[in-house]
Amino acid sequence: MPLVCFSSPKGGVGRTTLAATAGVALHRLGWRVIAIDLDPQNALRLNFDLPDELRGIADEIDGERDWSDLAVETPAGIFLVPFGTASTSEALRVDAHVAQTPGWLAQRLEPFLQERDLLVVADMPAGPSPVNVEIDPLADLRLMVLLADAMSLPLLPKPPQGDALPAGGDRAREFGYVLNQVDPRRQLCRDVMALSRDVLGEALYGVIHQDEAVAEAAACQLTVLDYAPDSGASQDILAIARRVNRSVAPA
Ligand SMILES: Nc1ncnc2c1ncn2[C@@H]1O[C@H](COP(=O)(O)OP(=O)(O)O)[C@@H](O)[C@H]1O
Ligand SMILES: [Mg+2]
Repeated sequence: MPLVCFSSPKGGVGRTTLAATAGVALHRLGWRVIAIDLDPQNALRLNFDLPDELRGIADEIDGERDWSDLAVETPAGIFLVPFGTASTSEALRVDAHVAQTPGWLAQRLEPFLQERDLLVVADMPAGPSPVNVEIDPLADLRLMVLLADAMSLPLLPKPPQGDALPAGGDRAREFGYVLNQVDPRRQLCRDVMALSRDVLGEALYGVIHQDEAVAEAAACQLTVLDYAPDSGASQDILAIARRVNRSVAPA
């Protein structure tokens, strides 16, 4: 039932890596997990050994076909709904469809959100988009992934308020942050970490070290949990998954 969205204002920060890896970690904590790729990059599948040409959301915007028909089981045990291979114009068509059909995305997700022991992880597009506008209000937990760099500092404070939240609804919503690619040998990284801890307090869900094993894992179409279980990044992501689990597990 819970929906956990991995978002960020800009790309290349580790949203997809974290959505895939935290999804697998949450599966290991006992959840059935389905990961939904809402980013036209269609990259979520690259963390798993899956065929290249999988049908996805972009192939089904005109149809009424249930997204569960698009779900594939990954070797890591979680299920995945790909975005689908889409050209720029096809990706823009998805955006236009979502913008012009309010409620469509929510309707597509609803069967998953109604399953009590199913946790839904969403890999969101970077920055503002019609998909974010539609999905964010449904999320039980929105995790903002940031790099531990100077450009991220102005993005730190204030969880979104007002227009980003829906009127009404019954989900207990929470907003958290993850600092990714932290290298404690760098003074700037240490400063950003310290400041983030001050500003965010409990909203800082965790810190992930920059770890070559993460990049190597992706090259092998594995998550780092399978590629290098004892690596620092694996331990960091497992800790974040435990924190997510505490937030979204039924009381
Ligand atoms: N903690 C990390 N350490 C090392 N490399 C990382 C880490 N997190 C992500 N990466 C690498 O950074 C690149 C971008 O990550 P990705 O998840 O695709 O970002 P996004 O989805 O935000 O665009 C990928 O090559 C990924 O392997
Ligand atoms: Mg991505």
